[in-house]
Amino acid sequence: MLAVVGLALSVSIFATWTLLLKRLDDRVDQEFSNEAEKLRRYAITAVDPKTGQPPTDVAALLNGYLAFNSPDRWETFFSIVDGQPDMISAVRRPARLDTDEALVRHMAGAVDPLHDETESTAGTVRYAVIPVKVAADPRPAHFVTAIFYDRQRDEIVDAVRVLSLSALAALALAGAAGWFVAGRVLAPVRLIGQTAEQISDSSDLTRRLDVPGDDDVAALAGTFNHMLDRLERAFAVQRHFVDDAGHELRTPITVIRGHLELMSDDPVDRAETLALVTDELDRMNRIVDDLLTLARAEQPGWLAQEEVELADLTVSVVAKARPLGERRWRVDEVAEARVRGDRQRLTQALMQLAANAVRHTKEGDVIAVGSAVRYGGKAELWVRDSGPGVAPADRERIFSRFVRGTGRTGAHDGAGLGLAIVRSIAEAHGGSVKVVEAATGGACFVMTIPLGEAP
Ligand SMILES: Nc1ncnc2c1ncn2[C@@H]1O[C@H](COP(=O)(O)OP(=O)(O)OP(=O)(O)O)[C@@H](O)[C@H]1O
Ligand SMILES: [Mg+2]
Repeated sequence: MLAVVGLALSVSIFATWTLLLKRLDDRVDQEFSNEAEKLRRYAITAVDPKTGQPPTDVAALLNGYLAFNSPDRWETFFSIVDGQPDMISAVRRPARLDTDEALVRHMAGAVDPLHDETESTAGTVRYAVIPVKVAADPRPAHFVTAIFYDRQRDEIVDAVRVLSLSALAALALAGAAGWFVAGRVLAPVRLIGQTAEQISDSSDLTRRLDVPGDDDVAALAGTFNHMLDRLERAFAVQRHFVDDAGHELRTPITVIRGHLELMSDDPVDRAETLALVTDELDRMNRIVDDLLTLARAEQPGWLAQEEVELADLTVSVVAKARPLGERRWRVDEVAEARVRGDRQRLTQALMQLAANAVRHTKEGDVIAVGSAVRYGGKAELWVRDSGPGVAPADRERIFSRFVRGTGRTGAHDGAGLGLAIVRSIAEAHGGSVKVVEAATGGACFVMTIPLGEAP
């Protein structure tokens, strides 16, 4: 960036320099023709003060002109009469040219107006020689205008030097300011990078960035912190999950080991132990299956999408659930609608709810399954029972993995994964699940699923 600005400045300084030199050349040429014109006009109108007639002496004519016309800065005039320098203008000049005999001889030899340049002690000099004739005076005379070209050029050099120096200073200043500002702007970005590195080195997810203000960098830091929040939460959930899974699997292993260690040679005892061990292994198998289901539910493409008839689904779930227990099975209501979703997974979810309902009810209790279309393009699927219901404090948490309700109804050995699976299935369909109190008392688990396309 600085290089580009520097290049642009150099180009413009060079252009200024060339332009000023060109102007100087033009001005010098202009000056020579001006002087020639002024001298011509003076010579036509000049009169001898004594006689009142045109002058008869060429030296007097040129003296009069020199007294009347004074040279500009870095310029000098002088006259040559009869090959000899005669009179020089009174203004101070950087070097004398009329003392250079060879030059004067060269000038005096001019028959026509002459433009030339020469070297002097004050550098290059450009001059014009104008031959002058007076009718009554036979002597040849010349008027010389000389411009100290190098001195004039030096002024331009000075100006361009000042320009270059100030441009350089401005460039340096801009560079320093840019450096400073960029450093300040990038400092938080660097901090973000360092923090990210420290986090990945130490896997300490509790660290957060502190970037005050409301600019883009602060927003970036905010997003970064948000991401850390989510990561921290996700890792905590995962750690919990692994701890719980380990714990849940350890229990049946301990039970199995205990039974096997205490097993005697008695065939009846052996048969009993075998039955118990098989039972525990089945339970373990189910937990592992459920965990796999939950893990897979987090991957995209888990659902096999198809059109699912809600009425058909509702009725078939009741038919399938009937063997779970001697209950008064009912169909509350059926929706004449279809949803896009995975029929098997939806059946699985409803069967989980039915199994829970059986677990929490007694023989002769009512368990009802229903479906309905609700306002806003949503379908509801529910399983209702006349059991003890779910305590309000438990209504949210029982959907988490490995969480069982506090108000246990009878002893049962569930792992607490059923409702988590139901929730995964509902969410995979773009919906949700909740538990409310049924109008007849007892629990009513309701899955809400959008009628449109599942995500
Ligand atoms: N119909 C219901 N009535 C009352 N409480 C219920 C009902 N269904 C579930 N719960 C409560 O919710 C808790 C969690 O249920 P969830 O299905 O997740 O686990 P579980 O049935 O204990 O074990 P799993 O389903 O893994 O065998 C249960 O422990 C129970 O306390
Ligand atoms: Mg269950």
